[in-house]
Amino acid sequence: MNPVMTLAVETSRLNLTIIGEHSVKDVFDTLNYRETAEMISFLTWPMTLEQAEGWCKIAIEGIPKGKYLYIAHEKEKGRPVGCICLVEEQDPKRGEIGYWVANPWQGKGIASEMIQAMIDLGFGKLGFSTIVAKIAAHNPSSLGAVKKFGFQPNGEEIKKTAKGTDLKLTVYELKQDIVP
Ligand SMILES: CC(C)(COP(=O)(O)OP(=O)(O)OC[C@H]1O[C@@H](n2cnc3c(N)ncnc32)[C@H](O)[C@@H]1OP(=O)(O)O)[C@@H](O)C(=O)NCCC(=O)NCCS
Repeated sequence: MNPVMTLAVETSRLNLTIIGEHSVKDVFDTLNYRETAEMISFLTWPMTLEQAEGWCKIAIEGIPKGKYLYIAHEKEKGRPVGCICLVEEQDPKRGEIGYWVANPWQGKGIASEMIQAMIDLGFGKLGFSTIVAKIAAHNPSSLGAVKKFGFQPNGEEIKKTAKGTDLKLTVYELKQDIVP
């Protein structure tokens, strides 16, 4: 079976599918809010279709490289509500998650549902032993989203943003053997 189909994930309120060429508009729509886009290091505001296309290109070429980029649609009306990715690190037992939720859908547990799905996929089918999230100090809502799953801080990293500035990130880890 097509790997894109076998990697589709369903949660109680969401359908998560691997991003494809057809996803550009939906990805754009989830990101076209200043407060959301400005928290994502590889984007600049105003959001452009080219930036969404860039993300979709990574997704299309990604699966053989261990990059699983998803878009989430709510089941009721099929509206795009957010995106999440799970990307194999240099150490193939570690997968990093990154995510966003479109502004009107924030505060409703959507990120939590997407993160739980990636934890299940990462520790299940993909065989990771550690899931990683890298979070800036000025992002309490992202921190809130991972802390509830038991992610623990373990080091810091500096990342270059799309604007060329340095962004300090705390590395949070969830180890398979300590998932409650
Ligand atoms: C971070 C983000 C994805 C959270 O999405 P969300 O769907 O609103 O998150 P949830 O509703 O699942 O909430 C997750 C948890 O974080 C908590 N939380 C949310 N905002 C918080 C805040 N400001 N301070 C502390 N905790 C917070 C929630 O209470 C919830 O915990 P609970 O279920 O125990 O109550 C969303 O705000 C977003 O897209 N931000 C912009 C992009 C971004 O920052 N991406 C992450 C980059 S690392």
